[in-house]
Amino acid sequence: MKEILKKAQQGKYAVGSFNFSTAEILKAIVAAAQELKSPIIVSTSEGEAGFIGMREAAALVEAWREATKLPIILNLDHGKSLEIIKKVVAAGYNAVHFDGSSLPYEKNLAQTNEVVKYIRQVEKTFDREIIVEGELGYLRGASSLHKEKLEIKESDLTSPEQALDFIERTGVDSLAVVIGNAHGVFAAGEEKLHLKRLAEIKEAIGDKAFLVLHGGSGIPAEDVKKAIEMGIAKVNINTELRLAYKAGLDKELAEKPDETTPYKILEHSFEEVKKVVAEKIRMFGSAGKA
Ligand code: 13P
Repeated sequence: MKEILKKAQQGKYAVGSFNFSTAEILKAIVAAAQELKSPIIVSTSEGEAGFIGMREAAALVEAWREATKLPIILNLDHGKSLEIIKKVVAAGYNAVHFDGSSLPYEKNLAQTNEVVKYIRQVEKTFDREIIVEGELGYLRGASSLHKEKLEIKESDLTSPEQALDFIERTGVDSLAVVIGNAHGVFAAGEEKLHLKRLAEIKEAIGDKAFLVLHGGSGIPAEDVKKAIEMGIAKVNINTELRLAYKAGLDKELAEKPDETTPYKILEHSFEEVKKVVAEKIRMFGSAGKA
């Protein structure tokens, strides 16, 4: 599992982390990855996991791994407590993101430490490999379409010194950073990445952890590509999949208001989500790397 990110880091491409909450969204993500022979990370937030079910998500992912032979990592996105981390680990997830970024620095560090300790124990006891991701910086927004303008303050950004200190003192495998990114798509203004800050972070941490870009929706493609070239190994995408799903559904319901067969109603949504995932896989450079 960690090898997948290591290869991406070394090969200067990124593995996409795509959120899902239903079986057909997962199917669309996998279908795009299969066509492009790409490794993928599929993620559920706490809310998304609550809807589809953790064990159910893990069983579906396992079925897709067997069917496609693709490297597919199942990840918990923005877990906020050790309790939820324990639940997804028991369900069979391969990666956990503990998000203590809203806590004061030392508290975030202490709680992330507990999570890492727990994960390493599980790895040793059950001979499993589980990726742990921590987070530093103030990531604004939520995975939806925002009408208001995005304003990111200098103080929101991840500090390079803190990033190194955090990695060394927690032993996380990956670190989610704030470098101008935010959750969601902003209708009024695009997200611009502070690539200089990313360079400073990379300079400080070297290869001590994999760098993760959250809030991948709505960031200009050139910025994302440059960020990957500079060391980002995982890019998270959620909102653009949600918008594609909704647009597909709207189209279907408008075209065929009398359709009642669920798998027919969901056809456009499936195709639209698959299209976005394929576009991102190409952008991230992970096509052909499975
Ligand atoms: P977007 O909703 O902006 O794509 O961000 C997704 C994300 O970062 C999930 O953790």
